[in-house]
Amino acid sequence: MQAPSFLYGTAWKEDRTAALTEQALRAGFRGIDTANQRRHYVEAGVGEGLAAACRAGVVTRADVFLQTKFTYLPGQDHRLPYDPSAPLSAQVAQSMASSLEHLGTDHVDSYVLHGPASAQGWSPYDVEVWAAMTKERDAGRTRLLGVSNVSLRHLQQLVASGAEPPAFVQNRCFARAGWDRAVRAFCAERHIVYQGFSLLTANPEALRHPVVLAAAARSQATPPQVIFRFARAVGMLPLTGTTDERHMKQDLASERLTLSDDETHAIETLAG
Ligand SMILES: NC(=O)c1ccc[n+]([C@@H]2O[C@H](COP(=O)([O-])OP(=O)(O)OC[C@H]3O[C@@H](n4cnc5c(N)ncnc54)[C@H](OP(=O)(O)O)[C@@H]3O)[C@@H](O)[C@H]2O)c1
Repeated sequence: MQAPSFLYGTAWKEDRTAALTEQALRAGFRGIDTANQRRHYVEAGVGEGLAAACRAGVVTRADVFLQTKFTYLPGQDHRLPYDPSAPLSAQVAQSMASSLEHLGTDHVDSYVLHGPASAQGWSPYDVEVWAAMTKERDAGRTRLLGVSNVSLRHLQQLVASGAEPPAFVQNRCFARAGWDRAVRAFCAERHIVYQGFSLLTANPEALRHPVVLAAAARSQATPPQVIFRFARAVGMLPLTGTTDERHMKQDLASERLTLSDDETHAIETLAG
């Protein structure tokens, strides 16, 4: 399994994390995104939800694509999964060991650098962390690697450094930037799977746009379903963080909608 066609995101769920993770698996999600960043995620809750779903016979570990992240110190609060005075490569190893404990597994399917050290470019810190993440992959603790919150420049510099390219890029996807057009094009050329988050929350104007409303009316779907279907049509792997059982079902059902090429193109170019 490279990755399923939808990821359920577990950020901002606090003490509901375990119950919502289990509910998402019961609803049919087979991909779960989390992070070892207590500030925004309860990774141990994801492990509890997965264990409950396994105990209930809903899934086995092998059915589920589990993705977590390494987060640099500035992105963390005081609840750290590593010794902040240790070298970065040791922080990666400690964070991964802690993730595997939280998630109750001996490997994850994807390990993502939550964000580069600097917005300006791929820095020597990132080079060290990426090498450490690659070691984790070589040791079998993750199958695949990814990067998040990256610009085209970050990706170009990562590749130019001679390092192995990521299997995934996970970015906030703004319609006004052509749905991250430049980064998506870079990914498509290199068979990197682009994971889009905040597809709904970052794009309220797209949800109200006549093109989206017309496609929703034609296909008897909701505007959020049209956006998720559009995301798939242009090759994205979408994330949803819904806390509503009905929306979980709707988000998954969006895969069965059909959008014409004209509708897809019109949505892709809403902002030019
Ligand atoms: N790499 C990063 O830095 C980063 C940053 C942010 C997020 N993420 C990941 O991405 C995941 C998703 O985050 P997100 O920002 O895309 O989503 P989100 O903030 O969790 O929010 C999704 C929103 O859309 C609504 N929604 C979902 N499906 C809907 C539907 N069918 N109809 C109507 N409303 C619907 C939800 O409301 P209801 O709850 O009422 O359905 C919620 O308000 C996170 O949990 C996290 O795993 C990663």
